Amino acid sequence: MTREFKRVGVVGLGTMGAGIVEVFARQGLQVVAVDRDEEAVTRGRGHLQTSTGRAVARGKLTEQDAATLVDRVSFNTELKAMADVDLVVEAVPENLDLKRSIFAALDEICPPETILATNTSSLSVTEIAVATGRPGKVVGLHFFNPAPVMKLVEIVRSVVTEPDVVADIEAFAAALGKTDVTIGDRAGFIANALLFGYLNHAAAMYESHYASREDIDASMKLGCGLPMGPLALLDLIGLDTAYEILDTMYKQSRDRLHAPTPIFKQMITAGLLGRKTGRGFYSYEKADSPVVI
Ligand code: 3HC
Repeated sequence: MTREFKRVGVVGLGTMGAGIVEVFARQGLQVVAVDRDEEAVTRGRGHLQTSTGRAVARGKLTEQDAATLVDRVSFNTELKAMADVDLVVEAVPENLDLKRSIFAALDEICPPETILATNTSSLSVTEIAVATGRPGKVVGLHFFNPAPVMKLVEIVRSVVTEPDVVADIEAFAAALGKTDVTIGDRAGFIANALLFGYLNHAAAMYESHYASREDIDASMKLGCGLPMGPLALLDLIGLDTAYEILDTMYKQSRDRLHAPTPIFKQMITAGLLGRKTGRGFYSYEKADSPVVI
């Protein structure tokens, strides 16, 4: 029997989590959104309001529809709010111990038939799954940033994911208007495994003073037809997230392509995480103040 996912949960309301909340609410689903404290919840609610506000300003959504969309989301600071959802998508930072502890807690809180999904972009879905007593009902569901815009989701099956769970999540992804690809459990899956070597190389090229950030980005945008250049894309993804993804892939493959170039760590230490902190390779504050290295 095909499962219906009507009431869904999202844990972690950072850039990705808040975007996933919006994807679900746009489809008319009731969403339970949880983060660890009021500050994080307020930030997540702010993301949703900014994004729906942008759609209203562009004439894509009426004010009434935007308000209805936001009303479909209940914001909470307690995981126990997930007690009656059909599906949970976890989107907390890329830390295996943190994810495993959240999955263990969700396993206690959620009914046995609830599907538990992780938005991890590079960690092992299998290692997360075995932190629960229902590894067959744990799956990867990886969205791309910005989640409401990007059409792809990667569905990751571990060796123990039940085939009907994968089939139901594939049908759910299609109902969300996404195109899905289903793959096994390997760091980076398809898209990040191919993308991040290129992003790492672009950061290294900038770091070595070989070319300016504008010229690197213009080359890939105008010469290769990409929607944005690699340094602008790193600012969108977040340098901390990019570092974690590269580091995980490097540790798994030992392929130097994925050894994070030193500028990542330096910029992270200096708080230059990209758009979310107002500065990365570019400045998103009023007066542009490029990174000088
Ligand atoms: N949240 C929600 N919607 C957004 C958005 C955001 N942060 N940014 C832009 N949008 C929407 C706009 O409202 C607009 O919607 P509309 O067409 O319905 O009016 C649409 O996106 C296009 O926006 P703009 O006209 O302002 O700007 P662009 O045409 O330049 O598009 C972009 C912006 C969609 C970000 C585009 O530049 C793009 O596709 N960039 C590449 C993004 C990418 O590669 N993402 C994958 C990153 S890797 C990843 O996510 C993996 C993870 O594991 C880290």
